[in-house]
Amino acid sequence: MRQFLAVVAFTLLTIGFFAGYSNFGIPQIEPAPPPKEEKLDLSSMTMDQFIALGERLFNGKGTCTLCHNALGRAPMLGTIADAVPKRLKDPRYTGEAGDIEEYLIESLVEPSVFVVAGFGKKGTNDTESPMPDVSGGSIGLSEAEVAAVVAYLQDSGGAEVTVEIPQDIDEEGDDEEEGEAREAVNDPKKLMAMFTCDACHMINGVGGDVGPNLSKIGANRDRAYLRRAILDPNAEIATGFEADMMPADMGEQIYVKELEVLVDYLAGLK
Ligand code: HEC
Ligand code: HEC
Repeated sequence: MRQFLAVVAFTLLTIGFFAGYSNFGIPQIEPAPPPKEEKLDLSSMTMDQFIALGERLFNGKGTCTLCHNALGRAPMLGTIADAVPKRLKDPRYTGEAGDIEEYLIESLVEPSVFVVAGFGKKGTNDTESPMPDVSGGSIGLSEAEVAAVVAYLQDSGGAEVTVEIPQDIDEEGDDEEEGEAREAVNDPKKLMAMFTCDACHMINGVGGDVGPNLSKIGANRDRAYLRRAILDPNAEIATGFEADMMPADMGEQIYVKELEVLVDYLAGLK
């Protein structure tokens, strides 16, 4: 009897181990440290601290400086106080903003509502912005984080800071809903859009050019390489590109199933 119980216990442990491994083990690749989630205690924050939070998001999680930098890939944002009134009067403006704060929020979550002349996606005649919705996809700024970035943009762009520090947003509740209730997506093109891969990667003429063109990536890269490129982008850096440009937290957002759909798709691009 003793021995029987020992066998049962061992079997259960083994099964438990593998079940745990396949649920939690696969996406985490060893050395990548979990990104530090900033604990937002908005109730005790001063406006200066809120603006400083916005600046950290702008330079970090928001990935804004990938494009908004001196290379001229996106407009500089230091003179936003002068620029916005002109944008709002532009006949091409199709949004609903009435002031600088509203324009900035709109720019972050619906970038195509107004595309600064000369900065549109190639071939769209400035009707589509290459900028991703920064509240979605792999960037995923929360409502409070968008507000903090907007406060920072107002402060650094010479405008009066009109944003108020949100007080009644339940950040953790939001995250849980998004993190768990989502259904796995099976269509690789939808996944590329959902995780904003296409904001940075061109496939067959569509997409951005911040990262390598992936149109023929399957021709000389195997599935193990592709998986690692997505989960641990800094493990190997594509020739001609720099480290720390591709978001490193894909592994936390993408489901194992979805990762395999993407890897299959990319491996087939030859
Ligand atoms: C993939 C590149 C990319 C990323 C990442 C990006 N942007 Fe942009 N952004 C652009 C481009 C290109 C434009 C100009 C086209 C347009 O008007 O949408 C733009 C426009 C803007 C505008 C409107 C500027 C104006 O003069 O009207 C704001 C504000 C802005 N971005 C803020 C941000 C912030 C804040 C972030 C990070 C949270 C960010 N962007 C991330 C590429 C990017
Ligand atoms: C903000 C821009 C950005 C986003 C979003 C992004 N990438 Fe990347 N990616 C890069 C850059 C830059 C590189 C090159 C540097 C490196 O190798 O880490 C890269 C490298 C890669 C590579 C390796 C390419 C090679 O030639 O070796 C693959 C594969 C890849 N990305 C796939 C993806 C997929 C799939 C997604 C979405 C789940 C994605 N990327 C999202 C910027 C991005």
